[in-house]
Amino acid sequence: MGWSWWLGSVVCILVAISHGGAAGVCEEVIKPKGYQCQEHTMTTKDGYILSLQRISQGRTPTPSNHTRQPVLLQHGLTMDGVSWLISPPGESLAFVLADNGFDVWISNTRGTKWSRKHTTLDPSDPGFWAWSWDELAEYDIPALFEYVNNQTGKKVNYVGHSLGTLIALASFSQGKAANLTRSAAFLSPIAYLSHMTTPLVLIASRTMLGQLAIWMGIAEFNIALPALKALVKGVCMNPHIDCFNMVSAITGKNCCLNSSTIELFLQYEPQSTSTRNMVHLAQMIKNGDVAKYDYGNPNENMIHYSQSTPPKYNMSNIPRDLPLFFSHGGYDALSDVEDVNLLIAHLDSHDKDKITIQFVDNYAHVDFILSVNAKQVVYEPLIDFLKRH
Ligand SMILES: *[C@@H]1O[C@H](CO)[C@@H](O)[C@H](O)[C@H]1NC(C)=O
Ligand SMILES: *[C@@H]1O[C@H](CO)[C@@H](O)[C@H](O)[C@H]1NC(C)=O
Ligand SMILES: *[C@@H]1O[C@H](CO)[C@@H](O)[C@H](O)[C@H]1NC(C)=O
Ligand SMILES: *[C@@H]1O[C@H](CO)[C@@H](O)[C@H](O)[C@H]1NC(C)=O
Ligand SMILES: *[C@@H]1O[C@H](CO)[C@@H](O)[C@H](O)[C@H]1NC(C)=O
Repeated sequence: MGWSWWLGSVVCILVAISHGGAAGVCEEVIKPKGYQCQEHTMTTKDGYILSLQRISQGRTPTPSNHTRQPVLLQHGLTMDGVSWLISPPGESLAFVLADNGFDVWISNTRGTKWSRKHTTLDPSDPGFWAWSWDELAEYDIPALFEYVNNQTGKKVNYVGHSLGTLIALASFSQGKAANLTRSAAFLSPIAYLSHMTTPLVLIASRTMLGQLAIWMGIAEFNIALPALKALVKGVCMNPHIDCFNMVSAITGKNCCLNSSTIELFLQYEPQSTSTRNMVHLAQMIKNGDVAKYDYGNPNENMIHYSQSTPPKYNMSNIPRDLPLFFSHGGYDALSDVEDVNLLIAHLDSHDKDKITIQFVDNYAHVDFILSVNAKQVVYEPLIDFLKRH
């Protein structure tokens, strides 16, 4: 999860990202690697204009378009679609899928460098940031599935990492998008967060840094912004070595990262999210449940939810026959083994032949997207799953 990247980047300010003029992910990242790519945009019901990239061919084109199944890739918190594209082509999930005959769609969450437009609001308006992952589950996920379904005429396979898992689970549990879904895979799944072990994240959530940022009127959450740099500063001096160690300190002891891949990664990440989103996640760590954003007082909750406490998501509502694939790691400090087991226990009534669970004992949070051996360890079993359903 990207808490991680937020704190990781406290540290990595010197390496951090340019928010300069964006040519688009296709031009900057995908085409230089020898793949065809199309830029798409779509608008959510609440007005956010999101960019998506489509890689509809592998390096060796397959004969017909009709057999190509769409796969939608949804990144985690404070990351963006580029996180699926950073390892070399033979190792990055997006390219591996395209080379295996899938029609790959990469989404970029509202607020990231590639999705900072809205029909009426500007990112400098606090209103642009008045959302948490509730809205991603409510608006973005259903719109993404509908868009890909419209474009391809096919039901959508989904792969989420980290927060990208929670928003799809929440959406499905509310009867949204599930009927447009062929199958769904969850890497480093995030839902119940009460066993999270990573000390820096726990300190940040206990001290409610996010809440503090709200009081200070900071709506956009990115540690690279001066106001937040001032809030939390001076954790590490050496941008290279300490950054690398810090990534592991926050996300768990990743087994198989390549330091030049991490440096490339840090040229694109972290990305912005909303401060409210960070507060919502801190509430989950504190309360141990999967509920909607708590406005902090009964009257305000009553206005939004017609009840004084935020309603809980009910994972048992996910259609029982939806094919699901989970992959989680033994060293993942953000997607803790006990929390994942709790999530799976909530899916107890799911059809047993429709649920596949993979446990990778030496993996931590970032290994699932950047590890040098992720293709063999996770993506090949994942592709078997996608082809089976
Ligand atoms: C496949 O789709 C591409 C782009 O949508 C199109 O240019 C091409 O002609 C199609 N190929 C076949 C075999 O239908
Ligand atoms: C999908 O297509 C329908 C019918 O053309 C259209 O009303 C809807 O807005 C489209 N959805 C998206 C997300 O583009
Ligand atoms: C999927 O469900 C939505 C809302 O429940 C509904 O509007 C839509 O028609 C359904 N689509 C299909 C293909 O069944
Ligand atoms: C790390 O990645 C770089 C760039 O892709 C590559 O040249 C190098 O061989 C990799 N190192 C290892 C140990 O995999
Ligand atoms: C959750 O949903 C399941 C199945 O739809 C239902 O049986 C159960 O009562 C619900 N639990 C709560 C707490 O609402």
